[in-house]
Amino acid sequence: MNKEERNIHPVFDWILMRNSKEKLLNQHAKVIWMSGLSCSGKSTIAAALEKELFRRGYVTQILDGDNIRMGLNKNLSFSKEDRIENLRRIAELSKLFINCGIITINSFISPTEIARKSAKSIIGEDDFIEVYINAPIEVCEKRDTKGLYKKARKGLIKDFTGIDSVFEPPENPDIEVRTDLFTVEECIDKLVKFILPLVEYKN
Ligand code: ADX
Repeated sequence: MNKEERNIHPVFDWILMRNSKEKLLNQHAKVIWMSGLSCSGKSTIAAALEKELFRRGYVTQILDGDNIRMGLNKNLSFSKEDRIENLRRIAELSKLFINCGIITINSFISPTEIARKSAKSIIGEDDFIEVYINAPIEVCEKRDTKGLYKKARKGLIKDFTGIDSVFEPPENPDIEVRTDLFTVEECIDKLVKFILPLVEYKN
């Protein structure tokens, strides 16, 4: 493709840049999208996965419900529409990261199939790894690390996922980990085995 043709196809430069950055970082960028109930272990698994990938030389960025909702998405509630908007913005943000060659590890409840599908279509099927962090609601409620289930049961928080707001388990995730049955190390082991071949740099 000559320079003139490239001007007609600016996307070519965009793709070229992503490839060059991936080459520089010696990795392929992907979005590792973790969904699951509150207290299912998403943040713990995300942090442990980041640590393990870093140890192996991979550059990552964690995006997490609790911190994104304090800044970028602080104007959003937990209504069905706002959750979709929350995930739409995160998908767009993730896309910028992968265009820089960076692997993003997203940990968001992502409660509905429609929201997950729309995130996947924004990011692109090939770059989207859907991970279901699965623990039964009874286990999550018992963990209740932030005391939110207790508050939701008392009616102090409304629209709480799993209590008075829907959670649709992912129908067809690329990979699932059961945090109630396996240790963090075992879950990370399973994830790393699946993810590594997808992020290892090949020309
Ligand atoms: S999502 O449904 O839009 O994907 P997100 O992952 O960003 O949710 O935020 C979930 C976090 O917000 C939870 O881990 C919890 O700490 C907090 N939170 C506060 N209110 C709610 C609620 N009503 N439902 C679920 N999580 C809530």
